[in-house]
Amino acid sequence: MAGLLQGKVSLVTGGASGIGRAAALAFAREGARVLVADMVEDGGKETVKLITDTGGDSMFTKCDVSRGSDVEALITIAVKTWGRLDCALTTRESAAKSPASPTKPRKTSIA
Ligand SMILES: NC(=O)c1ccc[n+]([C@@H]2O[C@H](COP(=O)([O-])OP(=O)(O)OC[C@H]3O[C@@H](n4cnc5c(N)ncnc54)[C@H](O)[C@@H]3O)[C@@H](O)[C@H]2O)c1
Repeated sequence: MAGLLQGKVSLVTGGASGIGRAAALAFAREGARVLVADMVEDGGKETVKLITDTGGDSMFTKCDVSRGSDVEALITIAVKTWGRLDCALTTRESAAKSPASPTKPRKTSIA
C-alpha cells in the first residue's frame, strides 16, 4: 500500500536532530521526498543518509531560518529539484528577526 505522502515533496527545518529528524524519517517512510534543512550540516546529512539508506529520496540544504533569503532558497531548491513543494514541518521557526514573526511589533500609520 502506498504511503500517505507518496509522491509528495516535503520540507523539514531543524531536520538535523530531535523532532525535525524524527519527522523527516516519518515523512520519508510515508513516501515523501524530503528536503532536510538545518544550520548543522553533519546532523542534516546524517538524516539524509538515514532516509536514503532505506530507499528514500532526500537532500540536505544548510540554512538559517532566521534569514528570509535562506528560507526562500529552500522553496526554490525544492521546486527546482522535485518540481513542487507540498508540505513543510518547521520545528525551528524563524526567530524574532523575521518580518513575519507575530512577536515583532510593526509600525503602522493611519492617514
Ligand atoms: N523536544 C520536546 O519535547 C519539545 C517540546 C516542546 C517544544 N519543543 C520545541 O520544538 C523545537 C524542536 O525541538 P527539538 O527537541 O527537536 O530540538 P533540537 O535542538 O533537537 O533540534 C532543533 C534543530 O533546529 C536546528 N536549528 C536551530 N536554530 C536553527 C536556525 N536558525 N536555522 C536552522 N536550523 C536551526 C538545530 O541545529 C537542531 O538541529 C524547539 O523549538 C523546542 O523548543 C520541543
